[in-house]
Amino acid sequence: MRTIAVIGAGQMGTGIAQTVAQHGMSVLLADLDQARADAGKAVIEKSLLKLVGRGKIEADAAESVLEKVTPIGEHAPFVEASLIIEAATEQEPIKKAIFEAAGKFLDANAVMASNTSSIPITRMANYSPDPERFIGLHFFNPVPVMGLIEVIPGLATAQSTTDQITNFAKSLGKEVVLSQDEPGFVVNRILLPMINEAVFVLGQSTAGIEDIDKGCRLGLNHPMGPLQLADFVGLDTCLDIIKVLYKTTRDTKYRPAPLLVKYVEAGWLGRKTGRGFYDYTGDAPVATR
Ligand code: CAA
Repeated sequence: MRTIAVIGAGQMGTGIAQTVAQHGMSVLLADLDQARADAGKAVIEKSLLKLVGRGKIEADAAESVLEKVTPIGEHAPFVEASLIIEAATEQEPIKKAIFEAAGKFLDANAVMASNTSSIPITRMANYSPDPERFIGLHFFNPVPVMGLIEVIPGLATAQSTTDQITNFAKSLGKEVVLSQDEPGFVVNRILLPMINEAVFVLGQSTAGIEDIDKGCRLGLNHPMGPLQLADFVGLDTCLDIIKVLYKTTRDTKYRPAPLLVKYVEAGWLGRKTGRGFYDYTGDAPVATR
């Protein structure tokens, strides 16, 4: 792989770009405009400086990783990329517009991938110039730390594309799980009902936020409780995924918890807005209920 393009300089896009650059590849980090792409690069810089501060990497190594990341506010430079990874908001119309616009600059041998958490790959492949060279490539947050990538071929994806992208995922030091193109793939199909159920448990006042999280941390040995994890992923993203599961399967077991809908309507989206199930504005997170 020569140059990798990442579209979306948010939580996932910056994590993907950092990981790719840490594995020696050049990255074009794109967002709607130059300012947002620059802000994404600043997030990567902060994350690398944290690693330097903890003695995990040398300062000059961090510098050379950062130099590999080029923030851009336009699509034209994508012609240089052998792989374009879309990591934008989890909403199909937004992704469709991106694939159509970025597809104009997809090299004849390049692959287009989506980091979607749940939207069908087979359907989104039709928004790209060549469904045979379109695939799902699902990272987990925080990308530099998490050891897994899901690879999801759509119905039209060529085997050569699946092989190439599986090798790329492994070249980032990750383990790969191959999933068929079914709603939520493997991990989110299991994770999101758990998070949603935790919000039902909270909504029915069966237990408070801290006890729900403590129960799963200590009772299941999860590193984070489900409400803490929901805040980490983003409550809007959680709601988007559970809605996709509900809409595509029409199975009521995936109906969104009413309290999750309310939190999103209130704009309490988790860590990124300073408030979700916890308040993040002080030194340490504080449960809000
Ligand atoms: N870059 C590189 N390394 C990083 C990093 C970054 N941006 N952020 C953290 N790290 C490293 C730290 O240096 C540290 O390394 P060592 O263990 O070698 O010291 C390690 O990661 C752990 O970091 P911290 O000590 O800061 O924090 P922690 O021990 O509390 O762990 C956590 C934090 C890794 C996030 C842990 O709580 C965890 O694993 N939580 C669960 C995360 C999870 O489930 N993610 C999946 C979400 S679902 C998803 O993403 C898919 C979707 O579609 C919704």
